[in-house]
Amino acid sequence: MKKKGVFSMISVKDLTLEEKITLLCGRDHWHLDTLSGKLPEFTVADGPMGLRHQQIVERDGKPVRVTINDTTAMPATATLASSWDPELAKEVGAAIADECIIHGMDVLLAPGVNIKRSPLCGRNFEYYSEDPYLAGTMARSYIMGVQSKGIGTSLKHFAANNSENDRHHQTSELDERTLREIYTPAFEIALEAEPWTVMCSYNPVNGIYASENPYLLTTLLRDKFGFEGVVVSDWCAVKESARAVKAGLDLEMPFRPEAYEEILAAYKAGYLTEAEIDRAAERILKMIEKVALTKDKRVVSTTPESRHATAVRCVEEGAVLLKNEGNILPLKSGRILVAGFGKRGVPSGGGGSSRIVSEYKQPKLSEALAALLGEGAEVIEDAALYLANKQVGATATLNAAYSADTVVFSIANDDIVEAESWNRKDIRLPREAENALVELTRVNDNVVVVLHTGSAVDVSRFADKVKAILYVGFGGEGATEATARLLTGAVNPSGKLAETFPTSLADTPTAAIRTDAFTDRYEEGVFVGYRYYEKWEKAVAFPFGHGLSYTAFEYSDLTITRADDGAVIEFTVTNTGDVEGKEIAEVYVRDVFSAVSRPVKELKGYEKVSLMPKESKRVSISLPKRAFSYYNTVLGEWYLEDGAFEIHVGASSADIRLVGKIDIRTPKYEHYSSTVLGEGGK
Ligand code: BGC
Repeated sequence: MKKKGVFSMISVKDLTLEEKITLLCGRDHWHLDTLSGKLPEFTVADGPMGLRHQQIVERDGKPVRVTINDTTAMPATATLASSWDPELAKEVGAAIADECIIHGMDVLLAPGVNIKRSPLCGRNFEYYSEDPYLAGTMARSYIMGVQSKGIGTSLKHFAANNSENDRHHQTSELDERTLREIYTPAFEIALEAEPWTVMCSYNPVNGIYASENPYLLTTLLRDKFGFEGVVVSDWCAVKESARAVKAGLDLEMPFRPEAYEEILAAYKAGYLTEAEIDRAAERILKMIEKVALTKDKRVVSTTPESRHATAVRCVEEGAVLLKNEGNILPLKSGRILVAGFGKRGVPSGGGGSSRIVSEYKQPKLSEALAALLGEGAEVIEDAALYLANKQVGATATLNAAYSADTVVFSIANDDIVEAESWNRKDIRLPREAENALVELTRVNDNVVVVLHTGSAVDVSRFADKVKAILYVGFGGEGATEATARLLTGAVNPSGKLAETFPTSLADTPTAAIRTDAFTDRYEEGVFVGYRYYEKWEKAVAFPFGHGLSYTAFEYSDLTITRADDGAVIEFTVTNTGDVEGKEIAEVYVRDVFSAVSRPVKELKGYEKVSLMPKESKRVSISLPKRAFSYYNTVLGEWYLEDGAFEIHVGASSADIRLVGKIDIRTPKYEHYSSTVLGEGGK
């Protein structure tokens, strides 16, 4: 008896040992093996900033893989993250999934939730945050968006993959508490959306490759976090296939001729059992079956225009207004000079497997500004815009700047500076750009800087010389339109930093750590990002969670109610200004006294509130017990220590507006048992 969708009938029992092993090794770069047509085609493709799909074409008689540039370039994950808007992440995910449906893809290799430990990591633009709660909650929504369309996701790169240099070999060496408090919670939160696959990282963790690491792939991922889907390797992350299967890896990608032989030989030698091979094959079959049963039911509900609109909106929500002295923004009238620096124009994203080259031709910023400002403004564009440095500093530009009322100067890092496979060497902007900018500030007092970089940069050379800074990040194909709308106030900026802008590289958490050739020691422990700057009282350029608006918000009436499973935090946010705007309210938990060294405070909740002028809204955020707990390595569990906690509610990690206290004290003796939160720590 065949069920609908033939493939639901295929179980491991119907397959030979050889077929099962074949299934564990992909067919080529992007496909799973069909076992000579027994199984349907199954295709995976990259994300996360759009669908990047490739085809084989013949060049000079040889087959080569080429990327097809016909999909929407969404902004980089870093920009999406600074929207702090999980609903938007869902919308972005669903829009990308629609393109997967159109192109016949089954799993999108996204999202990446690795923590931004150092701003140098070349792939930070592809990741969400220095904070695991923000990263996890945004990624969870992105996954829901993609999977709501019947397309699977791949939550990556598990785990402790926080640097790109020598990523295939360098061990991430870290203690258990740091791993559990900083580097795995984003995965745990995102796993609540049940991604079809989790992708292991390239790097060894504490000396054992992630792809062969039983602690990561089985103890944590399966036993503690309850993941039931397929664990796929990062591309070419597997060094020895049998060890990988034994540790809990299901699918090795891409196809590698030796993989099959290694697994078969290990089986014959008694190292791998048939049950272990079956376990992996069964999970892959389940995933294929899911697709076979639903593929023809997938529905595309977006259009190219609506997907482009999502890309634009994402920048509108995610761009961060870092500085706005004297309310120079929004631009209103007068003579506005638009100039800039970026060797390869405005980059839509960074380099590597996530790179999307969209066919969409962005308007020039000057044109977009002129269209929005109308007759009251004269927008002039300097020829040097987006050209190499020799022209930027040119006399003509400076003369034009001298006679302008305002100068809008865009600076971009390109997709070679910020790219997969290597780290940045420093976090300064190109020196020519900095020099040109400083020259401009000498001839014009009203310089506005637009930053197109995928990660935090050192702004110390110019931040106090310019009037405003708008951090757009890598904005995808909608970058310029959105930037113009933000600069003119057609849209009120509402993004907030998902990563700290440090004063300099020397001040960052990993700067002082000495590392040898093969190990990257996470000596800073749990003190990453704002947890580091706050603990060691380091000044920063712009703090985590910071972002300005063209209106102002007030916070009031904090109440904290103890609930059985934690606490409920309520407060009111009011728009006290004259224009509509959105405020991201941030909730941090501070453990007042602790037996272990803890961060000053940690983000445990947030909400983006949309408010008309003079409007107020009550915000309610539930904090589970886990929000108050730390990971206790003696118990091997999350532990809620009795005592006083503070709730800090604010507009940024450094702009706390309301503080309340809560005493969490379990009945006598109970804390010896019940406050040990157990599996998952809920
Ligand atoms: C990257 C992954 C990507 C894979 C397939 C790897 O190099 O690390 O993020 O999904 O390639 O392109």
